[in-house]
This record gives sequence, structure tokens and C-alpha cells, in this order.
Amino acid sequence: SKKITIGLFGFGVVGQGLYDIIKTKNLNLEIVKIAIKDPAKKRTLPAELFTTDKNELLNNPEINTIIELINDTEAAYDIVSTALKSGKNVVSASKKMLATYLDELIAIQHEVGSSLLYEGSVCGSIPIIRNLEEYYDNELLHSISGIFNGSSNYILSKGYLENMDYDTALKQAQDLGFAETDPTMDVGGFDAKYKLVIAAAHAYGVIVDPEDVLNIGIQNLSAEDLKYTREKNLKIKLVPVAKELDDKHVAMFVMPKLVAEQEFLYNVEYEYNAVIVQAAFADQQFFFGKGAGGHPTGAAVFSDIAALRYDYHYEYKKAKLRGALQFTNDIEFNV
Ligand code: HSE
Repeated sequence: SKKITIGLFGFGVVGQGLYDIIKTKNLNLEIVKIAIKDPAKKRTLPAELFTTDKNELLNNPEINTIIELINDTEAAYDIVSTALKSGKNVVSASKKMLATYLDELIAIQHEVGSSLLYEGSVCGSIPIIRNLEEYYDNELLHSISGIFNGSSNYILSKGYLENMDYDTALKQAQDLGFAETDPTMDVGGFDAKYKLVIAAAHAYGVIVDPEDVLNIGIQNLSAEDLKYTREKNLKIKLVPVAKELDDKHVAMFVMPKLVAEQEFLYNVEYEYNAVIVQAAFADQQFFFGKGAGGHPTGAAVFSDIAALRYDYHYEYKKAKLRGALQFTNDIEFNV
């Protein structure tokens, strides 16, 4: 297969995780250059591999694939759209950027024919985008839900299982490289919402502005809330939901949910993520795996790079087939 020549943007937790994985494998690929923001930071690799000039990657004809793993939404969009337009394939894990600009990015791919893959953006190591894209065409998909944010789940687990206070648990999630630079994204339910929006595009063909989707996070849960759940043998989980209401409408929201012992999500702890797909005839299916961290997320990014060897691209099939579905916020919550 053709050689994949990589320009990598970002060498943080996921970038380094990806690098570790690439090192151990003998695929026909090469990292040509790595673009970073801070040239003063100590690096474990030779200095000539790094640059602070994005054009050294974007304008380099020897690079055919851009891997975008930075956490600045606007800069990420600029890099990804420029690369796609110039005919390079792109792998990205920037959830907020993808959820916000999905429409534009789909249009560019259709126009230019380059491929954008982003399995690593939703639930880390769980291969959910390709499953939604490839598998669920042939029957009614009722809902997708689960645990999409490792940091929030880590904080909830630490509190419930180890009596750890919120701030200490958050600090640990940050130290372990799970949390976003701005942890409000995690604990406020934003990160889970971006992932939900991306998943829903592949599940239902519905492209939604994330700002239209309700998100309630875990940051305001009180000690009494936790005491109550313990007494009732329940757990609180931060659960994003996308569900088909009728033949025409899909509702989406993110909020804390009480989970009982017999439910799948009850035993999903710490940085683990899960996706529950509720289908008409298959009934419930449960995907489980690590949702954050350098190696699990790097593994998903690596899988996308590998898929580019056989020219894989998302077809957004549901958008074509089920374009009649519309997003709605018109739902009643029975709390
Ligand atoms: N901050 C994210 C999380 C990282 O905690 O799940 C993975 O997307």
C-alpha cells in the first residue's frame, strides 16, 4: 500500500501516546514533522523533528496525511480545513472542533475527495463511529447513550467508591491526562455533548449545532445527592442521550442520571467509557473501553491512520438515507 507520510499537530498526551504506538509497529508510515506551540518545552525526540510553523507541514508535498491533536478549536479547524482542501487526508481527535464544524468539514470532503477520520474523538478506544456508520443501516436505531466523558466518570467513581472529594479527584484526572485544559468542558457535560453530536451524525444523519443541545454536568451535585444514591444503592452517572422520538425527530441531551445495579452503566467506573445502542430488533448492545488517556485514544487515532491505507472514508450514509430526521429540543423530562 502507499506510504503514509505524516505531519503531526500537537505532541501532548494523545500525540505522545500515538507516537509510542507507531514506534512499536512496522507499518509503511513515517512521521515527517511535528508542529508544536511551545518550542521551549523539553522533548524526548530529536529537535529537528519539531517546528512551530504550521506551513512546514501544510505546504510540504512530502506529507500526505495530517494528524491533528491540538486543543485550540479555531486553530484546529483552520489546520484541518486547509489540509483537506489541499488534498491531504486528515485524522483528528478534536471533539469540540469536529462537532462545531461538521457541516463544513463534510462539504469540503465531498468537494475535494480527501478523507477526514475521527474515531479517537468519541469515547477514546471504543470503535463506535465506524460501528454506527457501517452496521446500523438495516434496522431502526432507537437510541445511543452511555458514558462519554472519562474525567467526570473518574470524579464520580473516586467520590462514590473511595470517598474522595471533588477537587482532589479532578486534580488526579488532570494529572493523569484525562481532563481537558479547561475542565469545565468535562464536568459541565460539554465534552460529552460534542461526542454525542458527532456520534449522532453517524447514527442518524442529523447534524446539530452543539449550542442547541442541553448539557447539565456533575459540578453541582451535592454531598446529599451522593448520600441519597448510596442509601438507595444507586449511582449517578453523566449520561448523554440521542434518541429517536418518532419517525421524524431525534432528541439529544446530556445530564446526570440515576443508574440502578442491574443497568449496564452501573459498573462503568473511573476513566472507562461505554456506549449503549438500543436497536429495534437487536435490543441493547453495550460497548465498553477506556475513554481517555494517551494510549487508548492514540490507539483509535492509529486505527484511523491504518484505515487510510485502504482509502477508507466516512460516507455519512444515514445523512443520505434518513435525511428526513430532524433534531428537536421539544422533550419532556420526567424527573
Ligand atoms: N477529557 C476527555 C475525557 C478526554 O475526560 O473523556 C477524552 O476525550
